[in-house]
Amino acid sequence: MTIKPSNFVVTTIAFGCFASGCFTSFGQTQEAANEPPPIEAYSPFAMVHEGDAAHGAKLFADEQKVGCTKCHSIDGKGQKAGPDLFAVGDQFARRELIDSVLHPSARIAVGYSTTVAETKSGEEVQGVLKQATDKWIELIGADGKRVRLNTADLKEQHGSDVSLMPEGLQAGLSLQDFTDLISYLVTLKEPVNSIATRHGMPDEIPALAQPVALIPFFKEPLHVPAGTTGETGKIQAGLVWFGQVPGFANRFLATDEAGMIWLIEKHGDDEQISPFLDLTKEVFSARGPNGLLGLAFHPEFRQNRKYYLKHQVFEDGKIATVLVERTVSPDFKTDSGNPSRRLLKIVSVAEHHNGGCIQFGPDGYLYVGMGDSAPNFDPQDQAQNLGMLFGKMLRIDVNRRNPGLEYGIPSDNPFLGKPGVRPEIWAYGFREPWRFSFDPLNGDLWVADLGQERGDEVDIVRRGENDGWSVYEGYELFSSEHRKEGTDYAPPIFSTLRKHGSAVMGGYVYRGDKNSSFYGVYICGDNVSKHIWGLTQKNRTLKTVHLLATAPQPITSFGTDEKGNLYVVGYQGMIYQLDLAHANFNETTPSSSTSSLPSPARQQTAAR
Ligand code: HEC
Repeated sequence: MTIKPSNFVVTTIAFGCFASGCFTSFGQTQEAANEPPPIEAYSPFAMVHEGDAAHGAKLFADEQKVGCTKCHSIDGKGQKAGPDLFAVGDQFARRELIDSVLHPSARIAVGYSTTVAETKSGEEVQGVLKQATDKWIELIGADGKRVRLNTADLKEQHGSDVSLMPEGLQAGLSLQDFTDLISYLVTLKEPVNSIATRHGMPDEIPALAQPVALIPFFKEPLHVPAGTTGETGKIQAGLVWFGQVPGFANRFLATDEAGMIWLIEKHGDDEQISPFLDLTKEVFSARGPNGLLGLAFHPEFRQNRKYYLKHQVFEDGKIATVLVERTVSPDFKTDSGNPSRRLLKIVSVAEHHNGGCIQFGPDGYLYVGMGDSAPNFDPQDQAQNLGMLFGKMLRIDVNRRNPGLEYGIPSDNPFLGKPGVRPEIWAYGFREPWRFSFDPLNGDLWVADLGQERGDEVDIVRRGENDGWSVYEGYELFSSEHRKEGTDYAPPIFSTLRKHGSAVMGGYVYRGDKNSSFYGVYICGDNVSKHIWGLTQKNRTLKTVHLLATAPQPITSFGTDEKGNLYVVGYQGMIYQLDLAHANFNETTPSSSTSSLPSPARQQTAAR
């Protein structure tokens, strides 16, 4: 049996009454005559009725009624249990905002999931992880109180699929009040004038006159052959990676986060899908960006049949990210079934921000994107700490083994031989470098790194560079706390305002058809807004960014094939090929123009 400490309000107890229609948790009683409308009534009403945003603002702050401000700030500081909502009207459409309030657990904001900690003496504490060290963790509960627990006293610590945001908050509101509240959320937009620099972070992104068509690669969302489903049953969705099998123009692999890899053979309209590898028993996959995250083929894949996976495991009571080597069968149609050879294991601190991508560079070395694996704000400064693999781009040699390691360290890695520094590090200062790629023409390493509050960024990363997190976020100074004098922080090429996107998904520089207007354009997108952008740069300064299309599904990744075609990976199981042949990168809608972007500068005005 679990005992909840009295100073720590647990969601189900404090707010459970809302769901059942009573109203006791704030000391009020709900008369039977005032039964709130059923939950189904709120969304249709709020979709079609005007709301009074000013009244909604009052309700938002009214701690006697719904008490949103107990858990949410709107000043961009984000120190409470829930996400700061300062730009929530930029990030989400009205319907999504309604759903967020009515069904908090249906989509849980990354970095704000509930952690459940069970102590050896049987207490259970729930909250959002705010800090984590080797010795203690700090959770912020639904009551806004922070509780510090020694890891030595913990029996278990795990994530939960239930949001800390209570269900049933609408029950304290009339339909019109609820609509007013939603209308207020819609007005919460990132104050553009608070951002001092506009270069590389344009206010407007012009759309192509003729959007790039997205051609479905499958006739239907990735369909799983009967009798082959993994135990998780999650495999029709959660696609996170797609690419061509080297040397086989008609064979492609698609991976889902639960740990299945599918082989797709495509001949014209005829497509066959078969399981390539079922790793669902080994892969730990839970809330948010967890699970099977990335795949890379060895540069000599056709000769040695080796490929690599990056995925999560749950071992010794902890989530860890592992990098493994596997081989395919001699006919290249399935995995060989031989066990993985584990090259690297990195034990996570937080459930999220463990990067995802692995890619071989033009130098033949394997690059690994590792996130800060930290609660928001990276409070322990992991991304800037060169003694840790968190928040780094790593570079290793899979063909050799250094003593004590399952891989080699390339002799020109920038920090090799420096005391106290991990020699695997190629560059540092990343928060969540989920997807990266190399320009096939010149080897430029393009990394898309997810920011926390203000914006995500796209970088071209050079050897040994510091890309800024958590000192910088995009172009802005994020926190002076971890700033070191005399350190250079490389600015991004492009950074998103929240109205453009909330989770950048890195893509590829298009090097398909040399005569295409897209030749040399870096194409990437956003998981939340589903926008797909193309951008060009000179000397790592943004020249142009255009909106190419909007994907029908949340984007998790981009894929490519040997011809240089580009694909968009949809989380709900669809892959789309970008039809670049029938669009022109240089023709945008007449209402907007990008010809003059203001001058670049990394500003230091928005410190916090
Ligand atoms: C007990 C704390 C708590 C209260 C009270 C609360 N929230 Fe939340 N809220 C959270 C947490 C934690 C999350 C993040 C987890 C999730 O997405 O469900 C969240 C998420 C959200 C989101 C989605 C934000 C995003 O970036 O995805 C919205 C919108 C939101 N809350 C609005 C509200 C409104 C409006 C109220 C008042 C009616 C409210 N919340 C009350 C804790 C709370």
